[in-house]
Parts: sequence; structure tokens; C-alpha cells
Amino acid sequence: MSKTIIVSNRLPIKIIEEGDHYTLQPSEGGLATGLASIHAEGENSWIGWPGVSIVDADQRAYFTSALKKKRLVPLFLDEEEIKGFYEGFSNEVLWPIFHYLPSYANYDLSNWEMYVRVNEKFRDLILEHADPDDTIWVHDYQLLLLPGLLRKVLPEASIGFFQHIPFPSQELFRLIPWRRELLEGMLGADLLGFHTFDDVRHFISSATRLTSTNNNSNRLEVDDRTVFVEPFPMGIDSKRFSALSSEEPVLNRIAELKANFADQKIILSIDRLDYSKGITQRLEAFDLFLEENPDFHKRVTLYMVVVPSRDTVPRYRELKDQIDRLVGHINAKYGAYDWYPVAYFYHGYPVEEISALYNVADICLVTPMRDGMNLVSKEYVASRNDETGVLILSEIAGAAKELIDALIVNPNDIHDIRDALLNALNMPTAEMKKRMKAMRELVFKFNVQHWATLFMNKLQETKNVQSTTK
Ligand code: G6P
Repeated sequence: MSKTIIVSNRLPIKIIEEGDHYTLQPSEGGLATGLASIHAEGENSWIGWPGVSIVDADQRAYFTSALKKKRLVPLFLDEEEIKGFYEGFSNEVLWPIFHYLPSYANYDLSNWEMYVRVNEKFRDLILEHADPDDTIWVHDYQLLLLPGLLRKVLPEASIGFFQHIPFPSQELFRLIPWRRELLEGMLGADLLGFHTFDDVRHFISSATRLTSTNNNSNRLEVDDRTVFVEPFPMGIDSKRFSALSSEEPVLNRIAELKANFADQKIILSIDRLDYSKGITQRLEAFDLFLEENPDFHKRVTLYMVVVPSRDTVPRYRELKDQIDRLVGHINAKYGAYDWYPVAYFYHGYPVEEISALYNVADICLVTPMRDGMNLVSKEYVASRNDETGVLILSEIAGAAKELIDALIVNPNDIHDIRDALLNALNMPTAEMKKRMKAMRELVFKFNVQHWATLFMNKLQETKNVQSTTK
């Protein structure tokens, strides 16, 4: 019987170096829970990088066998590969271009060559585990070449690809010197999935203009093979977030936070450190809000969690300095001996702490400049079992296409964000509940399990169409 192999840059479990020893911990993000049911079936497995550079052969062997019990297959990368493939090409070319910041892109030929080599390394490891008729589901922008590399060696396999970040307009995508190779890599898949219809449209226009592919709507003809391109808006494990809200440790933490911030409205901001998240503009909007609304001084706190991420990439380090400066500026300008307007934390937290924060937040302020989907907005909604709370959401996040009952803002317009904050702080409970209820229905119905099943079913359908048109 054929099996499914999931492939992503990061495994759902990471190896953490703590002094002279290593431990295993779950990786952040919704992918692990979303794909858990598929991963759990039969002989299915998951291949990816365990998040650290381990060079010692004995240690590699040790972790390979420890992870094997969980049907996880680690692909080890050395420092040079991490630098060229992960930091250099994935996060200094693809990430900025796909998030509409071409001036941040650094087109270095040796990084591209390393990206090719690491994608080939993934192919070689997959080949050690795959049978010719297996299903292989490849995830995200770090592995754009992999579907094409696999197609050459496993022509009969079912290959799916899902991109978790936006796909940019052709005008942006074409700037990449290796655009053709990247598209040909992606077109090795049978089914390509994106979060939104706009991403699909952008991909099809790049593929048809920059390669010899023809399309009929969302159906592409690639070397006599039919390839489908479709939107699959990703959901979250809504039940888990809802259940966390009433677990005892979370309830205790909620009580503690409420006591700490008594008489305060809490505005929550949670992101990975990233220039696509609009963190500095959000701080500027909060500054404007405080300047114009002195009556809210000592009555609101912006509780801002920034999760450390990619801090070896120069643009991320610069952003960290900018955020530090802005927070310092706001706290110095408005703060008092008994109140700091911004409570700022540069840490990752366990999900229980995040759940407590979702529960105490009167407002969740999510204002990315570009975001494929944005799962924080959905997690906030799923956590609000009493249907209170207001979500302020950037119109440019994929989630804004679904969560239309949020207060939708233009993240570049700090006046718009200021107005939304005022509106949220003054919103009558009945309106708040009406909006939250509608969003909760959506987040519970279109959860991550639903997303994964839909994708796998469509991949199967694509194979059926291919076999009837052969
Ligand atoms: C985004 C990407 C993921 C990535 C995650 C964390 O959500 O779509 O592919 O894993 O960020 O970033 P990192 O660079 O730490 O893997």
C-alpha cells in the first residue's frame, strides 16, 4: 500500500542545544497539529531539518534513530548550508520578494547554488524512503525546486505542494534572476496550493508568462501533464485553542494577568520578529493614539510579544533595534511610575501562556504589511469562548478574506489603526459578541484538519483526471 511523505524545511520537532546536551521540543507553528492526522496514518513519515547544526556522525545517528520512533526523518544541514540555503536564499531573496520588499533582496549566486544543492539533498533523502507510487506533500518556499527534482526520479508519484506565504504579482516575481528555474521546480507538482485566490492568480500569471506553460483557468498543461492550482485557506486546530482556555494552568495564569492589569484594557500584539508583520507601524499608530487620547492613559496597555526569529539575518537584527527604540520612546514619553504603555517581551512562550494572553486581551491587534494567512488572528478567535474581544486585522493578511467581521484596517495607515483602536475600545458588548460569534463559526468549521483533508482529496482527484486524460 502506498504511503504519504510530508516534507517541510522544519520538522514538527526540533533539537535544542542546551549547554552540553540536546533535548527534543515541538517546533512552533500550526503545521504540526494540522498534519498530525495524516502523519499518524499507516507508514506515513515526515522529512525535514531538526533546527540545529549537528556535525558529529554518532550524534546524527543517535537523533536519527530517536526520531525514527516518531516516524520523523531528520535532514541535517551544516553551518554553510544553513547560511546559503536558509538564511541567504530562502530568507534574503524569496522571503522579501514574496512579501513585496524587493529592496531587501540580496541576489548572491553562491546562495542560489546552495539553495539548489540543499533541495537536491532533500530529494536524495526522500528517495531513500519513497516508493514509486507514494504521495509526497512538499511545504513552503524553502523547497520550491523539490517537486521538479522529484518528478524526474519518481515520475508516477503524487506530488503536492503548498505555499504558506504569499505568491507575489508577476511584476515582483520576475525580478528574481532564477525565476524560471523556481517556477519549473514548482510545476513538478500535480497540485499547487496557496492560501488565497490572489496568490493562485499571481502564480498562474508568472507560470504562463515566464515558462512555456499554457493554462485553461486553474488547470495548467506542463509537458503533457495536467497540473492544478487552487486556493486552500489554512485553518487552525480550533478545538485545541478553545479547550486550552479552560485548562487549569491557563486559568491560573489568566487570573494572575488580570490582577496585574486590573483597570486596564489589554491590546495584544503577537508576532515572530519580522519586517512583514508591521510591528513598527503598529507602534507608531499606538503612539498617535496615546498622543490624541490622554483620557486613555493608564487605562490601556499594549502587551507586545515578539518571538525571536532569523536574528542572524541582518534585516531582522536592524528591525529588532528599531522596535527596541520605538518601545523605549513611547514608554519614556507617556509612562509614569505606575504605568508603562507598552509591556514588551522578546521571547518565545509555551502555548499555555499564549492562550492566557488571548483570553485576557480585550483587543488583538494584527496588522501585517503582507501575510499569507496569519494564524494568530484565528487563534485569538478560537480562544474566546465567551464571544467577547475585538480583532483588528490588516486587510492584507490572507485571513482578512475570511474574518470579515474583524475591524479591517490598512496597515500602512496609522490613522486608520488609531480609529480602529478607538472603535474597539468603545464597542458595545452586543456588537462585539455578534462579530466574534460569526468569526468563531468560520474558524471552527474551516479548521486545519479540514484544510489538510481537502488538499489530499484534491490531489487524489488530480491524479484521477491525469489518468483519464493520458
Ligand atoms: C513562516 C513560514 C514557515 C517557517 C516559519 C518560521 O510561517 O511560512 O515556513 O517555518 O515562518 O520561520 P523559520 O525561519 O524559523 O522556520
